[in-house]
Amino acid sequence: MTSSASTAVQLTGVRLDRGGRTILHDLDLAVPAGSITAVLGPSGTGKSTLLAAVTGELVPAAGEVRVFGEPVPSRPRELLEMRKGIGVLLQGNGLLTDLSVAENVALPLRAHTRLPEPLLRRLVAMKLNAVGLRAAADLYPRELSGGMARRVALARALALDPPLMLYDEPLTGLDPIASGVIMSLIRRLSRSLGLTSIIVSHHVRETLPIADQAVVVANGGIVFDGTPAQLEASEDPLLRQFLHGEPDGPIPFESVPSKPAPPRREEVA
Ligand SMILES: Nc1ncnc2c1ncn2[C@@H]1O[C@H](COP(=O)(O)OP(=O)(O)OP(=O)(O)O)[C@@H](O)[C@H]1O
Ligand SMILES: [Mg+2]
Repeated sequence: MTSSASTAVQLTGVRLDRGGRTILHDLDLAVPAGSITAVLGPSGTGKSTLLAAVTGELVPAAGEVRVFGEPVPSRPRELLEMRKGIGVLLQGNGLLTDLSVAENVALPLRAHTRLPEPLLRRLVAMKLNAVGLRAAADLYPRELSGGMARRVALARALALDPPLMLYDEPLTGLDPIASGVIMSLIRRLSRSLGLTSIIVSHHVRETLPIADQAVVVANGGIVFDGTPAQLEASEDPLLRQFLHGEPDGPIPFESVPSKPAPPRREEVA
């Protein structure tokens, strides 16, 4: 296996602009295949933007994004092909309210395959079983709790057996119990299916325990990249505020210097 094949996602010198503004710059990141990577950081720092560059939804203003060794294609047809291999759990669940749970999960299978109906139904049942919701197949989204709806969205994201899963804030709106269920499900599915998972979250405490790699996005770039243990042990004031304080607390996150302050005048003289 080449080194690029063992790297699921590689960003090299990536700059991401939105609305004429640079959101993230000089991004270098390697996500090992089969790993769970937590992308952490406060609101509005560009975590979802980073995911958009992996799915090809946002074309980098500079640099290159590779998925399983291949540059993210720009041609729509090739991009569509690549995206079949990426399961995405969106920040909202994105379930269609007038379709049953089973039909929601069947959507990607209907869109991208021509499987005979009985096989398709069996696959849907298997996916729902994997998230512990086989009995909910005929319910409608309005009949689901928040945690159940998130699991249906997860089953749908897994429908095409993608080797890469992207989760954007999978815990938003869930209580601690439902959050625990989702995180252990993500870990179990990742391990048993050998998936590469990137979890974007500002829920540090829930996300770090299941991650192999932690990345912190702040101040326009990646300010940390290492193991969860290294992150916990970091003395960097910015990382400590994020880990131990409220990410949107009274001290604006952006105002904390990420580099040591320049020496004071009397020290220079
Ligand atoms: N389509 C867009 N056009 C212009 N600016 C955008 C667009 N999408 C996002 N932005 C801006 O890019 C920045 C990063 O947004 P992004 O959604 O990536 O942050 P985030 O870290 O995912 O935040 P949150 O934790 O709240 O989801 C924000 O300042 C946002 O206003
Ligand atoms: Mg976001």
